[in-house]
Amino acid sequence: MLGALALAALSCGQRKSDGPVYLDKTKNIEERVEDALSRMTTEEKVALLHAQSKFSSAGVPRLGIPEVWCTDGPHGIRPEVLWDEWDQAGWTNDSCTAFPALSCLAATWDREMSLRYGRAIGEEARYRKKDVLLGPGVNICRTPLNGRNFEYMGEDPYLAGQMVVPYVKGVQENNVAACVKHFAVNNQEVRRTGTSSNVDDRTLYEIYLPAFKAAVEEGGAWAIMGSYNLYNGQFNCHNKKLLCDILKGEWGYDGVVISDWGGARNDDEAVTNGLDMEYGTWTNGLSGGASDGYNSYHLARPYLQRLADGRADIQTLDDKARRVLRLIFRTNMAAETKYGRFTCPEHYQTARDIAAAGTVLLKNEDGVLPMDVPAGGRILVVGENAVKKMVVGGGSSNLKTRYEITPLEALQEAFAGKAEVIWERGYVGDTGTSYNRVDTGQDLSESRDAATLIADAVAAARGADYILFIGGLNKSNNQDNEGTDRLALELPYGQRDVIEALAPLNPHFAVVNISGSPVSMPWADKVPAIVQGWYGGTESGHALVDVLTGVVNPSGKLPFTLPCNLSDGPLKTERQYPGVRDEGNPYYQEYYDEGVFVGYRWYDSQEIPVQFAFGHGLSYTSFSLDEMKVSGRNYSVKVTNTGDRAGAEVVQFYIAPAPCAVARPAKELKGFEKVYLKPGESRTVTFQAKDADLAYFDAEQHKWVAEKGVYQVLAGTASDDIRTGAELKLNKTVVL
Ligand code: GLC
Repeated sequence: MLGALALAALSCGQRKSDGPVYLDKTKNIEERVEDALSRMTTEEKVALLHAQSKFSSAGVPRLGIPEVWCTDGPHGIRPEVLWDEWDQAGWTNDSCTAFPALSCLAATWDREMSLRYGRAIGEEARYRKKDVLLGPGVNICRTPLNGRNFEYMGEDPYLAGQMVVPYVKGVQENNVAACVKHFAVNNQEVRRTGTSSNVDDRTLYEIYLPAFKAAVEEGGAWAIMGSYNLYNGQFNCHNKKLLCDILKGEWGYDGVVISDWGGARNDDEAVTNGLDMEYGTWTNGLSGGASDGYNSYHLARPYLQRLADGRADIQTLDDKARRVLRLIFRTNMAAETKYGRFTCPEHYQTARDIAAAGTVLLKNEDGVLPMDVPAGGRILVVGENAVKKMVVGGGSSNLKTRYEITPLEALQEAFAGKAEVIWERGYVGDTGTSYNRVDTGQDLSESRDAATLIADAVAAARGADYILFIGGLNKSNNQDNEGTDRLALELPYGQRDVIEALAPLNPHFAVVNISGSPVSMPWADKVPAIVQGWYGGTESGHALVDVLTGVVNPSGKLPFTLPCNLSDGPLKTERQYPGVRDEGNPYYQEYYDEGVFVGYRWYDSQEIPVQFAFGHGLSYTSFSLDEMKVSGRNYSVKVTNTGDRAGAEVVQFYIAPAPCAVARPAKELKGFEKVYLKPGESRTVTFQAKDADLAYFDAEQHKWVAEKGVYQVLAGTASDDIRTGAELKLNKTVVL
């Protein structure tokens, strides 16, 4: 009598295999893992655990178990590199779709967009035969200066957690593992491989772990990347507390832990503290290009030696090997074969839709936007970011694409035959055009000096019907760039001078800031319209101009605060950032003294005014929120589109705590829903308040605690735009 499973398999056309169990796709993964493991030698098990090339690790050739291939990055599939190099290999079939940076995805506040994103990038990885996508990143924006904020999902753990889950699910539908990074408390690039992030437990559990926890427990992530830094004095690629106690212990994680490239630093800890796959290591046995370098990895020959002489046990080895085999049977040996797709029209459309949906309208006085230009008129565009291609650079998220639409190209397209579009550079930023031998092919050289550039822009403004400044940051050193942090919050390259020279010249003046992290805008009062644009990828120019011209009604919301000044923020001392050297300690020490008071949690609680608040974003239409209605623990708000065009609003729910034994933020985001409404249409959004939404983490008890008292459930359209609310009485303290 055939078992139900076998019958099911037969019914879906799969023949019962009479081969070994690990090759039998009708068997469940755990059976296949155990069968494969039982057939493997110790050497074969160890070979699974470390790289054999820059981005691959061995399979089991004797058993026909394939290699594992990884690829960057969170925004698209990195071009093929040479066996042991970072530089691209010059293939001609690996120009990918560049999707928007993840700070843009976060700014959509749209879970559906995140699922679309994950599905599309997962298809591209699968098509390129990659098994592990090295992304998404969800490190919290603790300092606006972090060079990699553009790769992450903002300052709030709930938002980041909600937005990472669909992405992970979408990727993994393609038999590709999402590798969520960089675990954990990796919130800067300065001395990233030699700084210990020293964080108390309450801050760790309330701020820096939740997005990873959501990715694992709700997203089902199959891979996690350990980060370069240390946490409380131990390297994170083999940090016992993070990897063994929390990730694999408390969260029951059954996937693999992959080191960041070169993040493994110690033989014994690599074996005992939860690392499963070691990549990119430069051990002392690995001189440049040494042919047997990979055998010198911590989890290679040194591990075999420890197994042989009894310093390492076979149970730990088997646990690591099981996790890698599970990864293989989830990806390139999965029961259902997937093929993916690459650079297809649907992926370009997804990139364009997300980039537009993440665009944030920060300010719009007198209806300066959407652009209204008289027929035959003239538009002056000023700024390097109107022409600079941004997909190249920024570190490991660098991509090679078939094309990238710049804002200027999209404006020229949109106004062809209607208005003249002219461009002035205004300032010189980064004239570089290549990274890892990927080159945009642009010539951004410039001979004029700053004064001349401004004078030329001012001169060109005469007779213009509309002026657009498109500036911001870029992917070069000390900008939005892996390996370096920014040096200031202000826009670089003298952009403020350009903006302030242009502002008085024409009331039809808008500024677009293209960046992946917060910048200050001291000129904001002088500018009637301001847009936060992002690194939008292949279709970035089209997406931005869709918003500027009103083809798309902006609906993005800031995923992080835009402070007035860096000094207004919570990081006041060098020991908080970028860290200090303690006597006798080889590594820098950084102390998260601000605790949970990060981002709006800090500014709200200190009542410090900000330029634009977390969750802020305007629309070309308007919305109203009715008074909150309460039924039990259900808190409902009706939102109505009160304007004359369709649009989307994000109803945000915050919890203000009852008086409590510990200092708590004035409010914390615990729910949101993005609703798309036609003019006059209404929708009721309901937030169901759970005890967990009220709780803080009590480090002493190592438990979440919701103290009895009267809480406030608040609803609004930004953290500084609360429209309505209601009480929530907790009659007794709850320990979760
Ligand atoms: C880099 C990055 C990591 C990337 C890896 C491989 O150093 O920190 O995000 O995935 O190495 O390029």
